[in-house]
Amino acid sequence: MSGSCRSRADPAACKQRSRPLRPKVLITRKIFEESIACVARHCDVDTNQRDVPLTPHQLIRRLQGKQGAITLLTDTISDAVLARCPDLKIVSNVAVGFNNLDVKAATERGVMMTNTPGVLDDTTADLTWCLILATSRGLIDADRYFRSGKWKGWGLMQFLGRDIHHKTLGICGLGRIGRRVAKRAKGFDMRILYTDRTRAAEDVERDLGVAFVDKRTLLKESDVVTLHVPLSPETTHYISTAELKLMKPTAVLVNSSRGPVVDEEALVRALGEGWIAGAGLDVYEREPRPAPGLTRLKNVVLAPHIGSASMETRLKMSNMAAENCVAGLTGRRPPNLINPQVLMRQHPRPTGAR
Ligand code: DGY
Repeated sequence: MSGSCRSRADPAACKQRSRPLRPKVLITRKIFEESIACVARHCDVDTNQRDVPLTPHQLIRRLQGKQGAITLLTDTISDAVLARCPDLKIVSNVAVGFNNLDVKAATERGVMMTNTPGVLDDTTADLTWCLILATSRGLIDADRYFRSGKWKGWGLMQFLGRDIHHKTLGICGLGRIGRRVAKRAKGFDMRILYTDRTRAAEDVERDLGVAFVDKRTLLKESDVVTLHVPLSPETTHYISTAELKLMKPTAVLVNSSRGPVVDEEALVRALGEGWIAGAGLDVYEREPRPAPGLTRLKNVVLAPHIGSASMETRLKMSNMAAENCVAGLTGRRPPNLINPQVLMRQHPRPTGAR
């Protein structure tokens, strides 16, 4: 990555400093101080220090006259927002997923959009494994029991979970995070199945020890099904009633991708009626609200969207977003540009509503 935010001797930075007009950037929610400082070296920064998402109205108001925005996945940047913020040149999302951004509209309007790929893969794979293990072994329930003071000592028949080792893991989506999950599964001596839109290269399959199957086979044969597909119209409710009914009654479903990939109401029914044994969720269909009945179920482990939430990884994401934003506003190509087509456009961004 270019040294825009790290090197004081950066010529682009010096050039920018000597310009009379510095770009203006809105940081919509709390990010790390060093990332704010990185942006502030080149731009005038307006930050929302309250760490509460801005309402759509507040967002549009604070974006007026701003050329850059550093956004979180709780901010919706729709075509309507873009239409009302004609000065915007770049939206830098602090997340790898960008379903909160209307990339197509941005591309048509000449606005660059960036994300933070790569840096969170291992951390999200670790959290996926936390969910797999905690759900299969009933760890959270056991913890609650212990804290309640009810435990009177060891018993053979207490808290019987299910083994993970030597079982079958089904990975839906063998992208960067899916591959890291597979790599960890090898240590548990698992049979690893995967399904995806396209089959991975032979050497990837061999190195990871994974076998390609269709979705139906994966659902029927896996003891753990873990979801790593990006959210799109095709993957919305990728797991719904029919899919849950295909799974084994002893199986566990884990979702650390995006909430709407699972039909949460169908999942509540499946867990309540024992179609499957349990679920580990990090993401929800209508965050931050769970589907009715979800939190009353004992066979589900619920994390509040913390897949990438390690100190090290969140700092990397925050700095990456800052560097993407600064690059875009100082005449360089942002390293993680989602819509490079924007750079091919010769004409300036149209400012009127379409
Ligand atoms: C992402 O980057 O998309 C994650 O969901 C954030 O934790």
